[in-house]
Amino acid sequence: MRGCDVVVVGGGVVGLSAAWRAARQGLSVAVVDPDPGAGASHAAAGMLAPVSEVTYTEEPLLRLGLASLERWPAFRDALQEESGVDVDYRAEGTLEVAYGPDDMAYLEDLAAFEETLGLPVERLTGRECRRLEPMLSPSVRGGLLAAGDAWVNPRRVVRALMVAFERAGGALVRERVTELLIEDGEAPGVRLASGEVRRAARVVLAAGSWSAALAPGLPVRPVKGQILRLRGPKGFLTRCVRGMVHGSPAYLVPRGDGEITLGATVEELGFDGRVTAGGVYELLRDARELVPGITELELAETTVGFRPGTPDNLPLIGPAVAPGVIAATGHHRGGVLLAPVTADAVTAFLTGGDVPDAVRSCDPERDLR
Ligand code: GLY
Repeated sequence: MRGCDVVVVGGGVVGLSAAWRAARQGLSVAVVDPDPGAGASHAAAGMLAPVSEVTYTEEPLLRLGLASLERWPAFRDALQEESGVDVDYRAEGTLEVAYGPDDMAYLEDLAAFEETLGLPVERLTGRECRRLEPMLSPSVRGGLLAAGDAWVNPRRVVRALMVAFERAGGALVRERVTELLIEDGEAPGVRLASGEVRRAARVVLAAGSWSAALAPGLPVRPVKGQILRLRGPKGFLTRCVRGMVHGSPAYLVPRGDGEITLGATVEELGFDGRVTAGGVYELLRDARELVPGITELELAETTVGFRPGTPDNLPLIGPAVAPGVIAATGHHRGGVLLAPVTADAVTAFLTGGDVPDAVRSCDPERDLR
């Protein structure tokens, strides 16, 4: 039996961010995960796009995303400095494009809503869109530039977090947690697959889609996403491009090295880890409508990930399950974006500091029926 201040269950972007921040505050922290960063963080596109990723009925989620986006530059600076890893942070914005009159009407509503929030948004004609992104289809009728959106490479973020966390004195334990121990109504630690017990004053549950397996009743479910990685010339696209195609949102996220992440399916199929012919076909078909030239690029990778969905799409952040447990899970489509604000909140719950206001909507005990 070994003890520390905090055991974090789950080494994805959320768990590692919280663990790194807690370790920097002087707490002794262990992250337990058989393969850190191999879950949803490995599949994620890394868009830091609170406006483009949210429907505008979801205002608490939008507020949470904006609170986290605001934290990203300082989070990136500290992470890059403490790890020596470049996370490929880019801030050229999202270009949301439209084809039919319905899409244009949707974009107009979105622009009006963003303006009521005081967010920078620019309406563009089709020609102006193509001037920004010459690879766009000639049938694009118009678009919106969300200039405040940014993106990162989530795999590099995870690598950076592991380095920074260990340099801050944290311990990465590459094992699987099989049980949250509950003794006399409290949670004094976790049991590992090896049988070893890790004692801790507090347990942070950041196991994404696998959280409910450890805490039955926690309303988190896997939402399957298939995502592709294409390889092309650098500068093929310079910003994130999104659009509604055949009623589904499609996005293309360019990296500094020429890779383009193209996503993503949204499937309620539990833990079905198969890449399907239909999934790949639909992704390529829809993305080709936006950017016809993608068919010339190399298809470098197909991946499946499981977004941890909740009934209201808001994460679960705060005390939950039993005294001593803090949930940091259920981040659905936004784990990478929401990592900084979640890390601040978890650290505040651990140390008695001020919890960010935007996180109040994420109380795990809220009514989710
Ligand atoms: N955040 C992108 C996705 O969930 O597909």
